[in-house]
Amino acid sequence: MNKMCLTFKSRIENEAFARTSAIAFLMPLNPSVDEVMEIKTIVAEAVTNAIIHGYEGSREGIVKLEIGYEVNSLVTIIVTDKGCGINDIDQCLQPLYTSKSELERSGMGMTIMDTFSDSFDVISTPKEGTTVVIQKQLHKSADNA
Ligand SMILES: Nc1ncnc2c1ncn2[C@@H]1O[C@H](COP(=O)(O)OP(=O)(O)OP(=O)(O)O)[C@@H](O)[C@H]1O
Ligand SMILES: [Mg+2]
Repeated sequence: MNKMCLTFKSRIENEAFARTSAIAFLMPLNPSVDEVMEIKTIVAEAVTNAIIHGYEGSREGIVKLEIGYEVNSLVTIIVTDKGCGINDIDQCLQPLYTSKSELERSGMGMTIMDTFSDSFDVISTPKEGTTVVIQKQLHKSADNA
């Protein structure tokens, strides 16, 4: 297994840094154009949630991005914040649910991450923080189908 870990401040400009770093790390797996788009989207949604919800867009905090992959191209992406946490995870996983409709969020981030991944888990403790764990098998239509 190969692994990386990045920690960065909860500033929205760091979302692009996280997304492009994730792709750079996964380049040895030779992801398809679709896989690159899906991984970028997963990382963008998870990191944006950590920044704007976990740290409520204003508190300074640290976001951690961990990525690992196996020889069979099974990718694991873990995004952690030590922010406010989630009271009702089931509600937050509902398509179109958002606690920030006034900020014109669409409430689709969780659903998009779930759709683009093979497994998607949210672990959260109110007032302590949130971790999302995503697994995605690359090259599904090839040897690893
Ligand atoms: N890291 C987090 N910390 C605290 N709450 C979170 C976190 N991630 C998600 N949530 C909660 O889950 C809700 C749903 O998240 P989701 O990403 O699906 O929608 P959104 O971020 O509100 O809108 P969109 O992602 O479409 O811009 C959020 O509105 C927020 O209340
Ligand atoms: Mg979101």
